[in-house]
Amino acid sequence: MGVTARAQPNIALIKYWGKRDSNRNLPAVGSISITLLDLYTEMCVEFDSESGHDTLTVNGDDSPALLPRVVRCLDDVLGENRSRARVTSSSNFPIAAGLASSASSFAALVVAASAAAGHERSTAELACLAGRASGSAARSLYGGFVELQNENEAILVDSILDGDAWPLRVVAAVTATEAKPVSSGEAMEISRKSSPFYARWIEEQPMDLATARDAIAVRDFGKLASIAEHNCLKMHSVMWASRPPVVYWNSATVACMQAVRELHESGVGVFFTIDAGPQVKAVCLPDDEARVVDVLSQVAGVEQVLVSGIGTGAELVASE
Ligand code: PMV
Repeated sequence: MGVTARAQPNIALIKYWGKRDSNRNLPAVGSISITLLDLYTEMCVEFDSESGHDTLTVNGDDSPALLPRVVRCLDDVLGENRSRARVTSSSNFPIAAGLASSASSFAALVVAASAAAGHERSTAELACLAGRASGSAARSLYGGFVELQNENEAILVDSILDGDAWPLRVVAAVTATEAKPVSSGEAMEISRKSSPFYARWIEEQPMDLATARDAIAVRDFGKLASIAEHNCLKMHSVMWASRPPVVYWNSATVACMQAVRELHESGVGVFFTIDAGPQVKAVCLPDDEARVVDVLSQVAGVEQVLVSGIGTGAELVASE
């Protein structure tokens, strides 16, 4: 029988973009995110001492393309002299399309693999292991508002406010569901090597983190909205100015941003953020959720609208 863990994706309000050490996958900047509640990935790990290789099934299909990253993560968690594993993954939202499925997947994988091998590891250790596979995955080990600090040799992640203390809502407008053209890891390296704005991005990040931290501490929605949109657009400006340019948006992405801006100007408590994909995540006050869903559902090119609250970190799923 396998061991299953569940983790939710997280949405960065102050973004991670760029690696300080690509071998150890250490981020070049700190970041602040919110962990979602209603979207999730479940990962089941089952050891098979007879088998000579690992296998991966994603939403019912064999997934050889994603297998090498999963194998590397299992080696990190369990050491290379381990039994081979059958890994089964299922998500209740579109994967590899900028909805942070790699964060929920690797967070769930490290929890399930450690438990399946009988290892007792702290959340901080599991976060470091998840972060090696996908920088943002480290944040999905924790719930609520989460900060990843980048000042140490290893990363340091912790929850800075419970979701219940400021129950914001997230409305994700899905504008395309195919896999992204360039992985975030590759795109970060392109930005580091060629974007004229990269150095400035790194330099300004501590200021943006401090502003967001202050806004979260006193639940100042307007202040958080303004710094989160600024930080998101700055990250995408770094990408757009890279050579070759990295552009994840489509026309519906831009139309959604415009719709969110108009809502905001009419007094609705909402702001947008966009990651390495064309989806727009609108973060809003609970009373404004219905209005935001209504408006984004009607934007041309929006295929689906998903809503979520703020949830808890990765955990084991009790076996039946
Ligand atoms: O964790 P990765 O390697 O998929 O990178 C994620 C980068 C962004 O989603 C664009 C920003 C972030 O902080 O999550």
